[in-house]
Amino acid sequence: MKKIIAPLSFVLLFGSHAVFADAEIEAIVDRHCQACHDSGLAGAPKMDDADNWAPRLASGIDAMTQTVISGKGAMPPKGTCFSCTDEQLKAAVEVMVQRLK
Ligand code: HEC
Repeated sequence: MKKIIAPLSFVLLFGSHAVFADAEIEAIVDRHCQACHDSGLAGAPKMDDADNWAPRLASGIDAMTQTVISGKGAMPPKGTCFSCTDEQLKAAVEVMVQRLK
């Protein structure tokens, strides 16, 4: 029984709040974002392309999040995570920035 209750209480604690479990955001980035950003698919800024990222990083997390929400060029709105909330997308941008090489 304990095995069932522990994950359940985790979901209840974090599931419906603006505080997202890191694992959930990591999964969103893996599933929706890295497909393009790992390989530079469709002209996406690659994770190791520091020169490409520099001006984007300079604009700040909020501005970059706005770009992702509305989409730009070859990046579809919400970076293809259509079920994501704006808060989740902002957290996804933060995770992506942490992963930049
Ligand atoms: C279909 C490919 C594709 C997917 C999927 C994708 N991106 Fe992008 N992304 C791009 C491209 C292309 C650009 C460059 C847009 C431009 O500047 O013209 C970009 C740019 C960005 C930028 C820089 C924005 C700025 O203001 O310059 C961020 C941050 C970003 N993506 C994050 C994400 C996140 C987070 C996800 C997942 C939720 C995601 N991307 C999914 C292709 C993609």
